[in-house]
Amino acid sequence: MNKNTKIYIAGHRGMVGSAIWRKLEAEGYTNLLGKTSRELDLRDQKAVMDFFETEKPEVVIDAAARVGGILANNDYPYQFLMENLQIQNNLIDASHKNNVQKFIFLGSSCIYPKLAPQPLKEEYLLTESLEPTNEWYAIAKITGVKACEAIRKQFGKDYVSLMPTNLYGTHDNFDLETSHVLPAMIRKFHEAKLNNHAPVELWGSGSPMREFLFVDDMADAVCFALEKKLPENLYNIGTGVDLTIKELADLIQKTVGHTGEIIWDNSKPDGTPRKLMNVDRMQKSGWKANTGLKNGIEKTYHWFLENEGKLKKVKLK
Ligand SMILES: NC(=O)c1ccc[n+]([C@@H]2O[C@H](COP(=O)([O-])OP(=O)(O)OC[C@H]3O[C@@H](n4cnc5c(N)ncnc54)[C@H](OP(=O)(O)O)[C@@H]3O)[C@@H](O)[C@H]2O)c1
Repeated sequence: MNKNTKIYIAGHRGMVGSAIWRKLEAEGYTNLLGKTSRELDLRDQKAVMDFFETEKPEVVIDAAARVGGILANNDYPYQFLMENLQIQNNLIDASHKNNVQKFIFLGSSCIYPKLAPQPLKEEYLLTESLEPTNEWYAIAKITGVKACEAIRKQFGKDYVSLMPTNLYGTHDNFDLETSHVLPAMIRKFHEAKLNNHAPVELWGSGSPMREFLFVDDMADAVCFALEKKLPENLYNIGTGVDLTIKELADLIQKTVGHTGEIIWDNSKPDGTPRKLMNVDRMQKSGWKANTGLKNGIEKTYHWFLENEGKLKKVKLK
């Protein structure tokens, strides 16, 4: 690996992919390759194979996926299963057949069983049933982890899977219909502040505990995995620290400067009581997150204010 190594970042315009691109550029990597979904539809096996044969990337980072929350997963199970399988299978197989020696596959903590003990350890994979609301996505991602593991086992190539916890940060999705909890709260508190500090209504009781990782830390973990040959096939990426949704709301409210009331709508579901990654394996290999939640939220809110006018509206078809 050197700074001229040709690195293809699939999904380089997404929240995670763009953070990886910025990080690698800042680290002096000069030969980065990216294609939008319009330029290269990763569901198209032949197009992906042609691209690899022409471009011959040496390293591939897979940050491309059809992503979405519970509602989208529930409404579009076939797309979440099939498109993610297609995207990752085409990338992994084309990489293998074109002699890519290093492949970094990104998944998510939803690969672990619904009732696995907390904090979630890598070895809990495939020990029990998945959370039914996102099992389509999870099964695709588990297949990606296993495909990389099989190539690693059979051919000795450095194909590794990184499973991030909930991510947030710049280039996040702030569309209230499709966004995750943290960016949704930023938007709600901000709009309520502008509306004379009107009350903000939030779902559930506020008691569930969640973990959040700043996306630039995720990019840092990918850079670490790029430069080091990690000995295992699967690593959790997180902070190892969680907080209640109520504590998160208080932190965001303070950061945004909203002084109105928070109303908790207890008629709405809370979801899993706790979801926390065990990050011992990655820490033992020498990496840990370094952006505190307060600092990360401040940076995210700052980015939101600068980009509010041009935020993307995500719609699933
Ligand atoms: N965000 C989170 O909280 C989170 C948490 C854990 C794990 N992750 C993982 O991180 C990865 C990236 O997530 P993200 O949040 O960055 O998602 P995102 O912002 O929606 O970006 C997804 C990227 O995938 C590309 N893509 C989707 N379908 C494609 C296709 N058919 N052909 C080519 N490119 C396609 C998109 O390309 P275009 O922009 O060109 O259309 C986009 O750049 C996913 O594997 C996800 O599981 C995310």
